[in-house]
This record gives sequence, C-alpha cells and structure tokens, in this order.
Amino acid sequence: MRSTATLSTLPVISARPEAEQIATLVSQLKQNHAVDPATIRVVKAPLRICPLGAHIDHQLGLVTGMTIDQSVLMAFAPAANGQVHVDSLNFASTVNFSLNDVPPYQKGDWGNYIRGAVLALQREHRLPHGLVGVVGGDMPIGGLSSSAAVTIAYLLALEALNALNVSPAENVGMVRYTENQYIGLNNGILDQSVILFSEHNHLTLIDCQTMQIDKIPCSPAIAPFDILVVYSGVTHVLVGTDYNSRVAECQQATRRLLELAGQPVPANPRLRHVSPEIFRAEGHRLPDNLRRRAAHFFGEMQRVTDGVTAWQAGDLPALGQLVTASGESSIKLYESGSPQLITLYEILAETPGVYGTRFSGAGFRGCCIALIDPAARGSIAEAVHRRYPAAHPDEAPRYSIHFCRPDGCAGLIPNA
Ligand code: GLA
Repeated sequence: MRSTATLSTLPVISARPEAEQIATLVSQLKQNHAVDPATIRVVKAPLRICPLGAHIDHQLGLVTGMTIDQSVLMAFAPAANGQVHVDSLNFASTVNFSLNDVPPYQKGDWGNYIRGAVLALQREHRLPHGLVGVVGGDMPIGGLSSSAAVTIAYLLALEALNALNVSPAENVGMVRYTENQYIGLNNGILDQSVILFSEHNHLTLIDCQTMQIDKIPCSPAIAPFDILVVYSGVTHVLVGTDYNSRVAECQQATRRLLELAGQPVPANPRLRHVSPEIFRAEGHRLPDNLRRRAAHFFGEMQRVTDGVTAWQAGDLPALGQLVTASGESSIKLYESGSPQLITLYEILAETPGVYGTRFSGAGFRGCCIALIDPAARGSIAEAVHRRYPAAHPDEAPRYSIHFCRPDGCAGLIPNA
C-alpha cells in the first residue's frame, strides 16, 4: 500500500469504510458456506488503546483506555451439528472443531481464541449451537489488543446464537479465562474491559482491584485530537516474550516489600497490596530490577489519577505529558520496549503536534500510539517516514501510519 515516492508524498494507510469491510466478510461467508442469507449477522469488537496505566492491570492497579474506530469484525451464521468453522481474512488456515470436543491449546495458532472462548462459555452455559464465520480486521496485529477483540467477537456471536444473556462483566471473566487459563498469558483485565465498556468520547477508568468501571466524559473544552497509531512492523504473540516474567517480578517485589514492612503476604501478592508509604520507606532495599518494577507501578498509579483530572479539564497538553512520561517509565523502569518501539517513541516525543506518546499494549511488539493535533497530521507522518525506516531498514516494507478516532464498545451490528 505504501509507495516509495518522495517523503512529502508518502501516503498514510487509510482504513476502508466499515461497510466495505462488512460486505467483504459477508460475501466470503456466503462463498464458503451454503448459509441462509437471512441468518447472517455481524459482530464488531473495536481495538483499544491505553493512554495511561500500562502494565499495572495485572497488579490490580488503576488503568485507563479508549477504543478506536478500527475493529475486528466477524460475519457469522448458525452451524448445524454443533460445529464451529471459522475462516480469517488475516490468516490462511481454517479453524474447525466440534463443540463436544474442543481441541487443546496449540502454540501460535489463531484458533486458540475461539477454542478458549467456547471452553470459557461452556464452564457456565449450555452451548448447543455452533457457528460458521469469517473474521477480519484492517489494522496490523500487535499492541491494540486484537486478541481480546477477536475473543469478544466470538463470545458475543456464540451468545447470540445460543440466546444467552451474558453481562459485559461476565464476558470480562470469560476473556480472562481464555487468556490466563487456556493460552497461558498472565495478563490483567485492561483489554477486554475497555473493549466491552467504552463509550464514545469517554475515557474508561478501570479499578482492577474492585472491578469498578467509570466512564469519564470528555470536557467540552478539549481541543480536537486524533489517535495516531504507528505500527512498527514487528508482530509476534505475547506468550514467549518477557510479559509473564515481568508479572512474576512485580509479585516478588510485593512479597519482599510486605515482608520488609512486617506485613502479612497474601496468597496471590500484587503491588496494589502495598501502600505507597511502604514503597517510599522500603523500596530502596529491593534488588534493582524489583525496585524499578515497583517504581513503575506507583508512578503509573499517580499518572492515572492526574491524567483523569487533565482529561476532565480538557487539558490535552497536560494529559499528553503524562502519557509521554508513562512511555518513559515503560522504557526505563518496566523495561518493556523493543528497539523499534523505542525509536518510534523517541521520534514521536520529539515531533511538534504530538501531545503525548507511548508504546501501545505490552510494548514488546506492535505499535506506538500518540494523541495528536489533527492539523499536524502531515508533518508528523513526514517525520516518521523520514526517521523510522532509516533507523530500522528491515521494517521499511512493513511499518504503517494510521490516524484514528475514539469509538464505543463491542456489540452486534444491527441490520448489517
Ligand atoms: C497487554 C495485556 C494487558 C496489559 C497490557 C499492558 O495488552 O493483555 O492485560 O497488561 O498489555 O498494559
């Protein structure tokens, strides 16, 4: 899609309209299966960003999120005999199994998400009806939580076909089961909570300890902004990265801090169990890696609180500075960046028109996001095109730039 023309004419990748994406999915579904067109439905699960609160959901912290106007979409219809058959526009292989005999986790296979979703549903509900579906999304994979989005699309479709009334909070738990138990990623509830609860022009604030969700309206005074996504060109699954080892370090830090303070250590220690006062008093006695992880947690907790205040006041520069500080903490204290993401972060942090930037998601792959002034779209794209491929020539054929807007929550599309 990207031409090799001069810098000023290099295009950004513009998304196809949603209706066009849906038409492709529906026509592919009709081509693959002899379905009654009247039974075809479409589910949409938008992708998410997390401006503040990186890597503290698994420590029961406070996190923020927003969805963007780019989604995972699936056209689906009921299948006979409790079969599940899903094709993807993004992957070549097909997923095929019976609801009575769900195959085990297979490393690196995109089918894990629907198998996990089925098993999660079957723990609480009877699931007689299977589905045929075609799933797809236009964004590159990595950092925007397409994995939680696709799992939610499967859950909502299976729930619709089986007439199950499942609350968004219950669906948060089902995604958690899929990722933590079936796939083996020890992540938190940020991704699915944002995708299931977000509301247009609101920042979603999630307390991962109490599971309280607050939808914080955007101040009418806020200046126009875009959500910029710059995909680094690097995609790979999170299992096998340092994600789980960082979670383990946070737990070790918790245990050590509570012991140093003479407090009881709970069975599943998380940094939220430690007060900021204990960290201030005892943090210097931790080994360096554990001290950094804990410092990231407490810094990020404060930035979330300050960021919510800035959002409510419509103060984009203040919010942006916190986002960039969060990105720096991810690099220096949580040590989660890849060289490509760190370069993108530095480019964006130095470019006029960017209010704030950080890695998106876990930060071991995928993309950087930024809150930007829409008037600076061209000059920001030009800066990325000039500097990024020069620094990472291997990614030159793959990286991409996307200007997005905030969106709402996942759901079935009426009359699609
Ligand atoms: C991934 C995980 C989330 C969260 C983020 C980092 O997206 O799935 O649970 O930990 O990384 O904030």
